[in-house]
Amino acid sequence: MAEQSKEVYVEPSVEQATGLASKFVKAIVSEAVGRHGICYLGLVGGTTPHGLYLRLASDGCSGDVPWQNVEVFFGDERDVPQDHVASNYHMAQRTLLDHVPIELMHIHPMPADSEDIQGAAAEYEKAIRKAVPSGDQGIPRFDLILLGMGGDGHTASIFPNTEAVSETEKLVAAYHVPVLGRNRMTITFPLINAARNVILFVTGSDKADAVAKLLDNDPEARADLPVSRVNPAKGNFKIILDAAAARSANLKYL
Ligand code: 6PG
Repeated sequence: MAEQSKEVYVEPSVEQATGLASKFVKAIVSEAVGRHGICYLGLVGGTTPHGLYLRLASDGCSGDVPWQNVEVFFGDERDVPQDHVASNYHMAQRTLLDHVPIELMHIHPMPADSEDIQGAAAEYEKAIRKAVPSGDQGIPRFDLILLGMGGDGHTASIFPNTEAVSETEKLVAAYHVPVLGRNRMTITFPLINAARNVILFVTGSDKADAVAKLLDNDPEARADLPVSRVNPAKGNFKIILDAAAARSANLKYL
């Protein structure tokens, strides 16, 4: 598949990168609501988005974001209860969802702590298929999917050298992640790459090596990074970095 052109933004600081990401998120949400009355949004977990969600929550209260027309799903989740400190839902709830006027029925936590995690993943996929209109590939098209990246190049919970990397049928997968010793539930590349907009938001020097590989002109250099498979063929792909995350990348060919 042709390589989708990606837009790479490097900001001097985490705060400035967060401000740019917030600006793009708000613009995409507003555009989607203007276009079809709702924004289907996939939230990212981990720690990087804390600041972004807090920024959106504070800006959002100014009324310039139509949060009441947003429907939220999650890109991945840990196998912990929703009120656990490690839960991506719990993090998003504390930093964003409790502070903006999104209806509870439009917030869909991922049930990754289910006893039947495979069945729960299949149910979550059904919920996405029911709520989010599909594109011409018959795959639901999110208006925006937010992603982060680990130092090993994982994104969502698609970890290197796992079955999730090459999943082409399931839109939501659940599996045991050997490197973590835990189960994870995650959206997969078919769903990610059907999105209208994908924003990959990465900060910190601990991600610099993976970012350098991801942005390397040589496809071989990034072949072992799951995040290198993010390629929304009919969508817009933005990579937002701070200088620390970009410090080893060769940006001149971008
Ligand atoms: C998760 C995330 C994951 C995250 C990366 C980066 O559940 O952890 O969805 O993909 O984006 O692991 O995590 P940090 O932002 O904590 O560095």
